[in-house]
Amino acid sequence: MATEEEILARMKPGCICRGIKLYRIIEAIEQGATSFEQIAKETGIGGGSCGSKRCGQKVAALFKKKTAITPEGA
Ligand code: FES
Repeated sequence: MATEEEILARMKPGCICRGIKLYRIIEAIEQGATSFEQIAKETGIGGGSCGSKRCGQKVAALFKKKTAITPEGA
């Protein structure tokens, strides 16, 4: 059974401009991504109109929360 956090991550945007949900970013981190560039390559975030500012902040917060490491290039 999915936790409340997982359910919310499936509804919340990770990249508003490309319609990519937050859970895709979380999955990429859980699968071993250690930089914003890796997550961007795997999920498609970062190429929209925000220029990585909005989604970069989300990635940085998730790295801090999930892995306690600072992403490279975010
Ligand atoms: S939120 Fe879409 S590229 Fe950053």
